Amino acid sequence: MIRDERLTADELQRIDETIRDDWPTGAAVDFEEAIAYHESLPAQKQFADVLESADRPLLQPRAGVPRLDDQVSLLEHLHDEGAADLLPTTIDSYTRDNEYEKAQEGLEKARESGDATLNGFPAVNHGVEGCRELIERVDAPIEVRHGTPDARLLAAVTFAGGFQSFEGGPISYNIPYTKEGSLAQTIEHWQYVDRLAGAYTERGVTINREPFGPLTGTLVPPSIAIAIMLVEGKLAATQGVRSLTLGYGQVGNVVQDVAALRALRKLGNEYLPDEVCVTTVFHEWMGGFPPDEARANGVIGLGGTTAAIARPDKVITKSPQEFQGVPTKEANAAGLRTTRQLIDMVVEQDIVLDGVDEEQALIERETRCLMDAIEAHGDGDVAQGTIRAFDSGALDVPFAPSDAAEGAVLPARDDDGRVRIFEWGELAIDDDIKEIHQARLADRAETEGRKQSFRMVADDVDAISDGKLIGRPSGTRGRRDGGESSAD
Ligand code: 5AD
Repeated sequence: MIRDERLTADELQRIDETIRDDWPTGAAVDFEEAIAYHESLPAQKQFADVLESADRPLLQPRAGVPRLDDQVSLLEHLHDEGAADLLPTTIDSYTRDNEYEKAQEGLEKARESGDATLNGFPAVNHGVEGCRELIERVDAPIEVRHGTPDARLLAAVTFAGGFQSFEGGPISYNIPYTKEGSLAQTIEHWQYVDRLAGAYTERGVTINREPFGPLTGTLVPPSIAIAIMLVEGKLAATQGVRSLTLGYGQVGNVVQDVAALRALRKLGNEYLPDEVCVTTVFHEWMGGFPPDEARANGVIGLGGTTAAIARPDKVITKSPQEFQGVPTKEANAAGLRTTRQLIDMVVEQDIVLDGVDEEQALIERETRCLMDAIEAHGDGDVAQGTIRAFDSGALDVPFAPSDAAEGAVLPARDDDGRVRIFEWGELAIDDDIKEIHQARLADRAETEGRKQSFRMVADDVDAISDGKLIGRPSGTRGRRDGGESSAD
């Protein structure tokens, strides 16, 4: 039975030897030699140091193409033309499914044709040597961004290859990314990733870890996301991780987003051990984007504005071409510049938003309810507690494809556009909090002259791509533009 306990050196070594046989490049991984390699990297490529010592929100895009030379020029473009502070390497989907053979075929085709035949950089296939060439040719810290439920070989190769930051976690890369993978198994796989990061950390090479906060990216209530960040943070800390960046995805209501980012930082510091340095990352809107690039820039601008008020340590930017999928490098750089312009203009202003403290207190209370339930379900063990809480529905994620989550919770926006919970399932939240959500949703139903129903949820899912925050029926005017105007 999986428990939240540190893997022993023997266990680490045993798993390490097995997974390195999964693809020929695994053979080149040598921990001692890799430590020396990381020690040789200059200060401006030390990911955790750059992130943790920053005095303003750092910007990072997503980007990955199959060929090494193309990945180098893509990252150079984002660094030079987008002024990205931190760079990514987004991994292709075959690698995410551990299909290294198919990734190899795609890579070879890309090498022959020059086309982007994969939707990311197949780091395992490039191997330790290929990764190091990328690290050496690009002058900024680079993170591995992926979506791989079993990322053990990817971690072993990329850590040895000089990367010092690694996205993902056992819940955040299971629930939104797989249908059948069991949580017990993903937790076990990520214990290896985190223990390996811990082993590097103990030798003076800090590996930053970043659980994926946005989860399904679709109207996730902040407290659910924060509770999962705390669980993944605790599991990682047990394995020796000391640099953790907890994530949160923009919901679009500025008060709720600012409140959630403050709650995330506060609870992260409270729930995680003192020896862990906790930072936060804000993801610009992860739901559907408007097809019109001008409108998409508006969504990105709202993200930048929110970031300037809440001041997370890092912002993951979107591009105006989000609607069509992977952006061109020019559009990707444009998303970075739009975000930077908003942050730099707003950050100097002393903006006090009504209701942030109250919203933050509500988010914190809800998160504590979920954390208490996890603790109770596992008799104090966070790994068992999480598995059992998902099993009973006490912990749940809306719109999750994974069988590991009930998916019974349904969110909807209230009359102010904040994400509330419409269907609770078995979610472990106190009744008086449920009443607050219910009352806010009733206000909206009244404004719109319709009953609360799944229709409202579906309308909200499409709203931002349709050009509004709240999915109101056509012809309904929200309370904000209702009432008499004093202007003539
Ligand atoms: N390059 C850039 N962005 C990518 N995304 C996925 N793969 C890549 C890539 N190779 C982005 C999508 C979306 C998010 C989930 O990840 O465009 O914004």
